[in-house]
Amino acid sequence: MSERPESAGKGEVFDPGSIRRPFAILNRDLAWLDNAATTQRPEPVLKAMDQFYRLHNANTRRSVHRLGAEATAAYEGARAAVAAFIGAKSPAEIVFTGGTTASINLAVAGFARWEIGPGDEVWVSAMEHHSNWVPWQEAVKGVGASLKVIPLTSDGRLDLAAFRKGLSAHRAKWVAATWVSNVLGAANDVRAICAAAHAAGARVLVDGAQGVAHLPADVAAMDCDFFAFSGHKMYGPMGIGALWGRGELLEQMHPSIFGGEMIARVDEQTSTWAEVPYRFEGGTPHVAGAVGLAAAIEWVRALPPAAHEHVANLAREAAERLAALKDVRVWGPAEGRVSLVSFSVKGVHAHDVAQVLDSRGIAVRAGHMCAQPLMRRLGIESAVRASFAPYNTTDEIRRLLEGVRAAQELFT
Ligand SMILES: Cc1ncc(COP(=O)(O)O)c(C=O)c1O
Repeated sequence: MSERPESAGKGEVFDPGSIRRPFAILNRDLAWLDNAATTQRPEPVLKAMDQFYRLHNANTRRSVHRLGAEATAAYEGARAAVAAFIGAKSPAEIVFTGGTTASINLAVAGFARWEIGPGDEVWVSAMEHHSNWVPWQEAVKGVGASLKVIPLTSDGRLDLAAFRKGLSAHRAKWVAATWVSNVLGAANDVRAICAAAHAAGARVLVDGAQGVAHLPADVAAMDCDFFAFSGHKMYGPMGIGALWGRGELLEQMHPSIFGGEMIARVDEQTSTWAEVPYRFEGGTPHVAGAVGLAAAIEWVRALPPAAHEHVANLAREAAERLAALKDVRVWGPAEGRVSLVSFSVKGVHAHDVAQVLDSRGIAVRAGHMCAQPLMRRLGIESAVRASFAPYNTTDEIRRLLEGVRAAQELFT
């Protein structure tokens, strides 16, 4: 593993070694190139969670004792940190969930489903993760509505011209689009998608899972209606994420998890709901997760711009060097990679490539990457994906390429 300073573009020098040290899990012969599946957690995130359980553990909002007050303050402080991180108007617009999948399901079950009816159209982009596809299939099922797909251009971007042309002002109700594709790697122009959707009277849910670690998130600038993301894809804990919704929309949203802490009053036959966002957080919340997420936000915010340039440079360099290999096909647009590259090796199954790489201490993702409809559009069943974080190095790209060549020698 090389820890030499690497050029981070714009003449700045970035040292991934300095970022890598607080990640105990990386202090072994491991090239972790599976960051899009989940990132590793730095020491401050682990410490924040540990401190919560050691020093402040209690349930929130229901206990009068001091630990209860401390736990509530920590949890609500984390909510405020999330709100500031994504440009929300108020912490009340942040609903803590288990992650992106849970957030999208919450918005669909609590809001979208109630306003989708016969003849309506819901649009998903061709590059959506199953988490932002299957809930919409369920939403149109049985109500006489249909699912439309924003197609791809030949270079692997969303075909927004076709989208605008196909959008019907009378029928379009919802648009579900990812900020950054977990397969193709480039960022979508979600602002343009929101503008087109709103002009047609439709609402937009943006899947921010692959964006938040690498790009500045600003829901106001995007002008979306709902935004979902996971903590574990941005150096935070698993099992925590958030749904942001416009305040006035959250006020209209129906709760879909019923029970303790989400009520105002319970009578024998009926109940009324707590205020937003608590009415969407029934049951004991993942307080340590929220605290860890707040620590991850602080960590990401402290990253210098050069760290983000370094990640984009790694993705671009890996894509260019892989594309130059014989019988390797790189997927996605040549320009604008945020953090990852997916590729196929002719005559070698993606899982075999990943197996050979693993035998060399290189962790990548192989398979359909929870994007089967996209895979079919690309004419493949699976691919290999290398995804990067600031702690990765160009030396790891060298090892990746050597491993791919070794797989080719073994299997072809
Ligand atoms: C673009 C995208 N959306 C949604 C998800 C689902 O995230 P989670 O499993 O944290 O709910 C992922 C995870 O890979 C993803 O990459």
